[in-house]
Amino acid sequence: MKYNFDCIIDRSNNFSAKWSEMEKKYGSNDLLPMWVADMDFKTAPCIVDAIRERLDQEIYGYTTRPDSYNESIVNWVKKRHDWDIKSEWLIYSPGVIPSISLLIQQLTNEGDKIIIQQPVYSPFANVVKDNNRELVVNSLKKDENGRYVMDYEDLESKIDKNVKLFILCNPHNPVGRVWEKEELIKLGEICLKNNIKVISDEIHSDIIFKNYKHTPFASISEAFSKNSITCIAPTKTFNIAGLQTSVVVLPNEEDYKLLDKAFTTIDIKRNNCFSLVASQAAYNHGEEWLEELLEYIEGNIDFLIDYLRTNIPQIKVVKPEGTYLVWLDFSELGLDDDDLSNLIKEKAKVALNNGLAFGVEGKGYQRINLACPRSMVKESLERIKKAVDSLETSISL
Ligand SMILES: Cc1ncc(COP(=O)(O)O)c(C=O)c1O
Repeated sequence: MKYNFDCIIDRSNNFSAKWSEMEKKYGSNDLLPMWVADMDFKTAPCIVDAIRERLDQEIYGYTTRPDSYNESIVNWVKKRHDWDIKSEWLIYSPGVIPSISLLIQQLTNEGDKIIIQQPVYSPFANVVKDNNRELVVNSLKKDENGRYVMDYEDLESKIDKNVKLFILCNPHNPVGRVWEKEELIKLGEICLKNNIKVISDEIHSDIIFKNYKHTPFASISEAFSKNSITCIAPTKTFNIAGLQTSVVVLPNEEDYKLLDKAFTTIDIKRNNCFSLVASQAAYNHGEEWLEELLEYIEGNIDFLIDYLRTNIPQIKVVKPEGTYLVWLDFSELGLDDDDLSNLIKEKAKVALNNGLAFGVEGKGYQRINLACPRSMVKESLERIKKAVDSLETSISL
C-alpha cells in the first residue's frame, strides 16, 4: 500500500472528541476509544498539502467559493455514484445534522410527524424531538440471515396525514446496510403516495465495500429527486469532520429557496478558509487514497469477524456492506444493559457506543468503530475477550 494506515498516531494533543471526551461520557479517559465516528488515520496527503498551502498564505479572511468548488462535488458524485447533479442545486452547510434541523424547521410545523428507522444514529431522534415534532419510529427488522431490512408494512401502518418527513440513513449507521435500489424504490413510492418528503442522509455513501454499490435515493427517478433532499459530506470519507463542511443537494427549487433563506437568516453562508480548500482537494484528488482506505477498513472488518468467530463466538456480527462501524450483538451473554456497559467499560476498558443510544432496538448491542490501525482493532478484541472470559469464569465458580 502507498499509504500507511497501520501507523499509530498520538492524538493526546489533538483536541480530539474521541480521545479526550471519554472522561465525560464513560467516567475515565483510560479506555481504548472505539466509539465516535472519526478515524485514527491521517487524512489524505492531497488534503494536507492544500491546507498547508492555504496556511502558508498567512491571511485567513472571509472566503468566497470559486465555481470549481461545486464542480468538484458534481464530478465526484457522477464518478463515484453515477448521479447527475447540478451546481445550482447545492448549498454549503457546516454539518449534516444542522442541515436536517433547519430542514425540519422549514418543511414541517410543530406537532407534525417525522419518521426514522431505528436503530439509527441518535441525533436523528434528538433533532426531531428538540424541534417539537412528533417522532414516529419505523423499526428495521431482520431477515432470516440476520440482515436488517426495511419493514414496509409497519411503515404504511404508521402513516397518517400528519406525517410530513422521512429521514433516511443511506447507507445505514449503525447496521451497515447499503440499501439496494429496489428497497429504496419501495420506500420512495410509499413516501410519494403519501406526500412525505425524504431527507436522505448520505454522509457514509463513500465508504462502500467490494460487491456493493451505493444508490443515491434522488438518482432513482425525477419524481424521487424532486421529493427529496440529500446531505453529503467529505468529512467521514476523508477524516476531516473537525473542518465542519457538508453539502445539501436540493433538486426541488422551492426546497432550495427555503433552505437558502434559512441559512441566510442565521448568516451561515461561507466555508472557513481551510474547509474550502480541503473539500475541493478531497473530491478532486482523494480517490486513490480512498480506494486504499476502503481496502484497509474491509481488512479490519474481516479481521474482527474472524476473531469473533474463533475466540468470542457468543458475540454475533453480520458483515457491514458500508460504513466503518460494526454492530455487535452481545445478547447471547444474557446481561442486562448496565452489566453489559460495565463489562465493556470497566472490565475490557474499551469505549464502544451503547446500542440503546440508537433506540430501544439496540438493546444488547454495542457499536464498534474500525477506522483505526489494525493493532487497535486487535487490542480492543483481546480486551473484550478477556472480559467475556472472566464473566464465564465467575459464573462457573
Ligand atoms: C448518519 C450520520 N449523519 C450525520 C453525522 C454527523 O454529521 P455532521 O457532523 O456533519 O453533522 C454522522 C456522524 O457520525 C452520521 O453517522
